[in-house]
Amino acid sequence: MQVIRFSDLIAQGQVAGKRVFIRADLNVPQDDAGNITEDTRVRASVPAIQMALDAGAAVMVTSHLGRPAEGEFKPEDSLAPVAKRMGELMGREIPVIVDWTEGVEVKPGQLVMLENCRVNKGEKKNDEALAKKMAALCDIFVHDAFGTAHRAEASTYGIAQFAPIACAGPLLAAEMDAISKALLAPKRPLVAIVAGSKVSTKLTILKSLAENVDQLIVGGGIANTFMLAAGLKIGKSLAEPDLLDQAKAVIEAMKARGAAVPIPTDVVTAKTFAADAPATIKAATDVADDDLILDIGPQTAQALADQLKKAGTIVWNGPVGVFEFAAFENGTKVIAQAIAESSAFSIAGGGDTLAAIAKYGIEKQVGYISTGGGAFLEVLEGKTLPAFEILTKRAAA
Ligand code: 3PG
Repeated sequence: MQVIRFSDLIAQGQVAGKRVFIRADLNVPQDDAGNITEDTRVRASVPAIQMALDAGAAVMVTSHLGRPAEGEFKPEDSLAPVAKRMGELMGREIPVIVDWTEGVEVKPGQLVMLENCRVNKGEKKNDEALAKKMAALCDIFVHDAFGTAHRAEASTYGIAQFAPIACAGPLLAAEMDAISKALLAPKRPLVAIVAGSKVSTKLTILKSLAENVDQLIVGGGIANTFMLAAGLKIGKSLAEPDLLDQAKAVIEAMKARGAAVPIPTDVVTAKTFAADAPATIKAATDVADDDLILDIGPQTAQALADQLKKAGTIVWNGPVGVFEFAAFENGTKVIAQAIAESSAFSIAGGGDTLAAIAKYGIEKQVGYISTGGGAFLEVLEGKTLPAFEILTKRAAA
């Protein structure tokens, strides 16, 4: 993907004294009192801002927070807690500007945060007039919001169309590079782990990956549907019998390419879905009618771990069992450890996956951890994200 990179503009001396508008993704989880409960996205957004300040720009940064009603600013929608946290990280006060679309006063060396951009009328629908007003605020637009790269909104897409220069910030560029390395030019074997409760929510991902990967490891409720498709009994486990044909099609598509969807040979079951439910390890052929499959068994986990250790590239989305319950975490733990020990380039993304990575403390051993939720999933679906599309177009113009 050929896009203009903010780092290149800085290296070319094009940023000093310029007005730089950075669209970050500062959409962080908050508790009822508005406190930030997880600040990865705030931390990940600092480098672009610091780069712009160090290069002598007048810097504006904005983001959406939640899904507020447009045109109705409410205190709970405010980016103020985010500005406070970012200020702590950067060692400076960051003023928050409300009503900023008509003009922003900011001088070189200064940084301001523009209040929740989703409160502006026309943001979600990528209103052209709003996008033009935003574009008029700056000389350079920096898209650094990978988490929002799958949205075509006024502050992510329209502004990129109309700003004098539109480029990718360091976070967006890093995500783009990691995705290209993993999916466009992967070192093989390429192994993908796609797990989650339902095939239906990840069907497009499974179909898209079935055309590219060498091993497609499925987990969670998705694996149950694949076990059914392979003719195994799954008791009362979560599954989608109406998607059996789709699961079979994925298995066949993989087979036709000489690739495989490994089906579990053993599982961990319980009679109820509870943390203290007694766990039983059994062969995949022995699942009883009243069993719930809550994890892959140790033999399956070990076989998958061996494949992961031999992989050239690993893409990970989703824990393979109910890893929140100690009795059913082994599969996810073994997989996490295998990824950590593998010399493969690995990329991971998606809420539960990040929670598993944090639980097993393997952050440093994963090649790249994506800040995207929905955006990461759309990449796995094989879609070209609007952010990449418009930045590529602007670079070619
Ligand atoms: C996310 O949290 O996935 C992004 O910030 C996008 O948020 P959205 O789904 O509300 O557009």
